[in-house]
Amino acid sequence: MAIIGSGYVGTVTGTCLAEMGHHVICADINEARMHKLQLGEVPFYEPGLETLIRTNLESGRLMFTTDIAEAVSDSEVVFLCIGTQLLPSGKPDLSALTKAVKEIAAAMDGYRLIVEKSTLPVKTGDWLKQMLQNELKKGVTFDLAAVPQFLREGQAVQDFMHPDRVVIGADNQQAVDTLVGIYRPINAPLFITDINSAELIKHATNAYLAMKISFVNSMAHICEKTGADITEVAKGLGMDRRIAPDFLNAGIGYGGIFFPKDISALVNIADEFHINLDLLKTTEVINRYQRINFIERIEKSVKSLEGKTVCIWGLAYRPNTDDMRDAPSLTVIRGLQNRGAKIRAYDPIAMVNTKEILPDAVYCKDPVEAAEGADVIAILTEWNEFNYVNFKKLKEISDCRVIVDGRNLYNPLRMKNMGFTYISVGRQPVKPLT
Ligand SMILES: NC(=O)c1ccc[n+]([C@@H]2O[C@H](COP(=O)([O-])OP(=O)(O)OC[C@H]3O[C@@H](n4cnc5c(N)ncnc54)[C@H](O)[C@@H]3O)[C@@H](O)[C@H]2O)c1
Repeated sequence: MAIIGSGYVGTVTGTCLAEMGHHVICADINEARMHKLQLGEVPFYEPGLETLIRTNLESGRLMFTTDIAEAVSDSEVVFLCIGTQLLPSGKPDLSALTKAVKEIAAAMDGYRLIVEKSTLPVKTGDWLKQMLQNELKKGVTFDLAAVPQFLREGQAVQDFMHPDRVVIGADNQQAVDTLVGIYRPINAPLFITDINSAELIKHATNAYLAMKISFVNSMAHICEKTGADITEVAKGLGMDRRIAPDFLNAGIGYGGIFFPKDISALVNIADEFHINLDLLKTTEVINRYQRINFIERIEKSVKSLEGKTVCIWGLAYRPNTDDMRDAPSLTVIRGLQNRGAKIRAYDPIAMVNTKEILPDAVYCKDPVEAAEGADVIAILTEWNEFNYVNFKKLKEISDCRVIVDGRNLYNPLRMKNMGFTYISVGRQPVKPLT
């Protein structure tokens, strides 16, 4: 199998397919990245991936190359895992994909099954088929399929190997049979559908999850005004099987480039067909507002931010990743700095990447050190290690007694008993049981 585009999705896909027993060549134009991968080093943080890469490199089932033609000519199935960043128009940028597909077509000497793994707008399959037909040498045939990838950074290997379902979009039996053969070892339902539907399922899934988060954040604002508690409300909501408990955590909102990119692509398609998708536009507006609202909470907690020091716990947009693309922490830190605050930050993994984007902050070796000299602690990522902060030690070395928690990590009563003013999202400051 050839994986074209060995970024996040491509590397995880290629490695997991090799782990399942297939022979895989991952190809990418990024020489530095491929050099690292050839040595068994992962260019981004993803738990469990490095061990799998090394084992499969050693077994000879996994290879990394910059030679796309070589990867295509040695394979039967070609997975497209190229990035699709957002253009200023709000549409995904398909220029890298176009370039890659032309290169693939030039290298094809016979039948190949080409599989979309990148997240692509509905009907991209039609466009890809047309392009391949135009580019291919006479007599060379292909099938196209779409197998969208559902994975969360930080849990990518687990999500690939144990998905809720594998969506296989194809329009002929040979393609379906090949893909069923490839994915059969995965213990999950294989959902066979057409290509347009498979493409739309991926966009609709991300849009729906984003909508759930914005919905629960709106409910959190109602909780704050009415005396209800969002953690209780979310628990009660999630117990309804029609709703399900995941993605119902109130906080500073979702981050990362994927939800905004996929919502934007979907809104663009809807606009093209004069379909009203204000629902999703509002989802994004609510999400952006959560970040601004969080800055205001921090400011309110210390009256004015001018000359104050804010300690930040957590920079990554979600735990177990160092991906800083559109992380809420970037908006929050810039907002705090614009209002005159100094920043001391700690994140277990994402500090190296953040330093390049935000050099004007002090980066600390642990959460307690970051709290030294701070006026307020703000929690932005729900890293597991923040559940084990040594507050006794913190109180010895820091006078800071205000915590603004954007991820609702702690029990408000426990924090009050430890002497902290604890402000979280959608919960009452403290409500002892009577
Ligand atoms: N990262 C995620 O969590 C995730 C999850 C599901 C789906 N997706 C989707 O998968 C796609 C890829 O995302 P990603 O996060 O892996 O992106 P990425 O930026 O990490 O990787 C894309 C790779 O494509 C390579 N590339 C660009 N042009 C190329 C060419 N002509 N030939 C060969 N390689 C080329 C780049 O060098 C890069 O390494 C996107 O459509 C994304 O929406 C991402």
